[in-house]
Amino acid sequence: MLQPGRVIISQAELQGRIAELGTDLARDFAHERPIMVGVLQGAFLFMADLIRATPIELTTDFIGVASYAGSKSSGQVRIVSDLSVAIEGRHVVIVEDIVDTGLTLSYLKRTLEARRPRSLRVCVLVDKVERRKVDVPLDYVGFTIPNVFIVGYGFDYDGLYRNLPYVAALEGE
Ligand code: IMP
Repeated sequence: MLQPGRVIISQAELQGRIAELGTDLARDFAHERPIMVGVLQGAFLFMADLIRATPIELTTDFIGVASYAGSKSSGQVRIVSDLSVAIEGRHVVIVEDIVDTGLTLSYLKRTLEARRPRSLRVCVLVDKVERRKVDVPLDYVGFTIPNVFIVGYGFDYDGLYRNLPYVAALEGE
C-alpha cells in the first residue's frame, strides 16, 4: 500500500521559502498590479500562502488543465476550466505546484502567451529538474527536489493527501 512517508519539505521550510518568494514578487511587481494565475488543482494551497506573503496590489484567477487520457507523455494538455478574465496587456504570473517533464507548463505558457499579456512569468513551488523533457524557463522556484513522487500541500496521489500541511514522499509497495 502506498502512503505518505519521509518528509521532503517540512511545514516550516514551506512557510520560510514562500515568504522569500513573496518578497521577491512584491519587489518585482510593486507597481504592476499583476494577476496571479493558480493552476488547479495542485497549486491552490501554494497560491493561498503565496499571495498572503506578497504585500502589493494584485488580483487572482485560476485555470484548470488536464492531460488527455492515455497520452500524458505526449504533452497533449487541455484547458478544463478557463480563466474568468482577459489577460491582454496585464502582467501575469503563473503559479504552478510542480514542474516535472515540463509539458504541462510549456503548453500553458504557449496558450497564455497567445492572449498577449504584457508580461508572463512563472512561479513554481517544486522543480523536479531531473525529469525534464522540454525546456521551460522558470522565473521563481521554491524548491528543487530529486526524482521522488511527492504528496501533501496540494500534491495528490489518486486525489488523496492534498490536505497534509507538509510535503512527503509516497512510499510502500
Ligand atoms: P509535467 O507536465 O510532467 O511537468 O507534470 C506536471 C503535473 O504532473 C503536475 O501539475 C502534477 O499534477 C503532476 N505531478 C508530477 N510530479 C508529481 C508528484 O511528485 N506528485 C504529485 N503530482 C505530480
